[in-house]
Amino acid sequence: SRRVLPATAPIVDIHTHVYLPRYAAELRARTSAPRIYSRTGGDGKPEERLLILDGEPGVGRPVGSQYWDRDQKLLFMKRHDIDISFISSANPWLDFLSPERAKVLAQDLNNDLDEYCSSSPQAEGFSALKSIYGFGLLPLVPDISIPSVLDTIKQITTLSHISGVIMGTKGLGKGLDDEALEPVWEALQKTNLVVFIHPHYGVDSKAFGDRANGHVLPLALGFPFETTIAVTRLILAGVLDRYPDLRLLLAHSGGALPQLSSRLASCITHDPVVAKRLKHDARYYLGKLYFDAVAYGPEELAFVSDVIGRAETYSSAGGEYDADIGSRRMLFGTDHPFFPPLEASQKWQSVEDNLKAIQSVGVWNKSARANVLGLNALRLFNLEH
Ligand code: URA
Ligand code: ZN
Repeated sequence: SRRVLPATAPIVDIHTHVYLPRYAAELRARTSAPRIYSRTGGDGKPEERLLILDGEPGVGRPVGSQYWDRDQKLLFMKRHDIDISFISSANPWLDFLSPERAKVLAQDLNNDLDEYCSSSPQAEGFSALKSIYGFGLLPLVPDISIPSVLDTIKQITTLSHISGVIMGTKGLGKGLDDEALEPVWEALQKTNLVVFIHPHYGVDSKAFGDRANGHVLPLALGFPFETTIAVTRLILAGVLDRYPDLRLLLAHSGGALPQLSSRLASCITHDPVVAKRLKHDARYYLGKLYFDAVAYGPEELAFVSDVIGRAETYSSAGGEYDADIGSRRMLFGTDHPFFPPLEASQKWQSVEDNLKAIQSVGVWNKSARANVLGLNALRLFNLEH
């Protein structure tokens, strides 16, 4: 069997996306990106394409039922032995909408996703649990009223299968270090919702030159650099000092943040404007975050795990290195339905690579791997039975 663990240990996918039918309809109605449009494909048949990235080259990506059909999601889970999925709307969420439209659509899509999850068949072998849960959306757009955002957080707390929110890096248009977001962080901490921070915009595409490299540079580098910058700004703004119980989950293993955290700490130390602002060394805050394990390689997972394990040693109160902490803050994910197989085979290489990477981390024993594959998610989302 391909199962990494005995059948009693679950595989939980915390990074898996959907464009709900209502959202796909919104994208189809648009004439500029982000949009879904129809054309005649190379085989003479009609096809739909997805154009969402900033300055996206060419004709965009193929898009189809994998993006919205729940049966496709369940089939994918079955093929890859995934017991439970925490499903989130895919980028760019509501970012491009007016405040009025964003608010209505956020609440409608939250209801849709709750229904999508709660009416799903239960996962085999985990009869005490439902097989799918969701991350909701907040109307985070410029000029939205904060009470509208707080109202949506309140709505989410009434939905049985929505356990968190997914958000991009723009906040209300000025990033995640915007003072105007303080009541939002406060409410998210208070309601204990998991906040999944996910990239969309990448970095200025001029940095990627003129050569045709498809989507490789924006996805491989732009996405994680965007996350790195957004979360670093959030840390520098003291958000994690003021809301130490916020539960932030970072896409793509936190991008380059783990690799750059000591350089960040050093730059802070040498900067007269920032040096005294934070309660702790910057590296401490990495131990307050959760990281998906969507890094595709064992070396990267081991590295992130080690950095998290050292975080407590940078507490201003002094703390111990704990090799186990890393494996308790990292969670398996797939990024489905993105990165589909190039051939119409049944296995998704992106999934197999991430599973294999978790199995191959030398410093993780069997129980650490079980934590990353699923047990951490059960704890994070209070699904332990
Ligand atoms: N490409 C996207 O646009 N979003 C993802 O989440 C992954 C790949
Ligand atoms: Zn993703």
